[in-house]
Amino acid sequence: MKIYKYSDYNEYKDAQARANRRKLNWVWAGKNEIKSISEYLKKNLPSALFGICHGSRNSMEVKWFREFLGIEVIGTDISETAKNFLHTIQWDFHEVKDEWIGSVDFIYSNSLDHSYDPEMCIDQWMKCIKNDAFCFIEWTREHIPSNSTDPFGGTRRNYMNLIKKKYQIQDVLIINSKLLDKDEEELKKNDFIRVSRHLDRHIFVIKHRKT
Ligand SMILES: C[S@@+](CC[C@H](N)C(=O)[O-])C[C@H]1O[C@@H](n2cnc3c(N)ncnc32)[C@H](O)[C@@H]1O
Repeated sequence: MKIYKYSDYNEYKDAQARANRRKLNWVWAGKNEIKSISEYLKKNLPSALFGICHGSRNSMEVKWFREFLGIEVIGTDISETAKNFLHTIQWDFHEVKDEWIGSVDFIYSNSLDHSYDPEMCIDQWMKCIKNDAFCFIEWTREHIPSNSTDPFGGTRRNYMNLIKKKYQIQDVLIINSKLLDKDEEELKKNDFIRVSRHLDRHIFVIKHRKT
């Protein structure tokens, strides 16, 4: 496991904001991935009412979760471009709003590799998750390298060990994110570009440990 070291917080924030603007019309999340996670939620937590997607950039994943689940879902992004996207706030996901503590039914993020302190970050997200709720964290082989835009680099094993230090991995969903033609069309209509389309997504489904 590697963590890129920034000289200070401003260097981190600027690096993230620069990369965000450069890739603003890229969509990493797959619609079928979001569909599978939504189905998992409907089956295992039908009472869910509120979810957060951390590091959501142009918020396609937020739109898809809202469509599949029909509940309140918001996105966060550290970049000021967040204000251009529906249901999205400019927010550093290492921070927690008081009203989120113990009151979120699910968190989804494919952006933990953008954390400068992934252990603290997972703790912050788990503070928000209700006792019976889930945090979905994505890992792919593109999450292994560490650099100035993706500071946390880790193997699948590194991710698992980090999570299992304090929390329970309830399931690992492995989803091939190949996009259907009609879904590709939807992105094109929004001038979005699909990236990393043939990568298997490994989604760690994380819960609080039973006490
Ligand atoms: C790999 S992109 C993923 C974007 C989106 N989830 C997708 O699937 O297309 C990572 C995003 O996380 C944002 N980000 C990086 N650090 C963040 C932080 N500390 N808090 C919130 N967002 C952050 C970046 O600006 C970028 O938009």
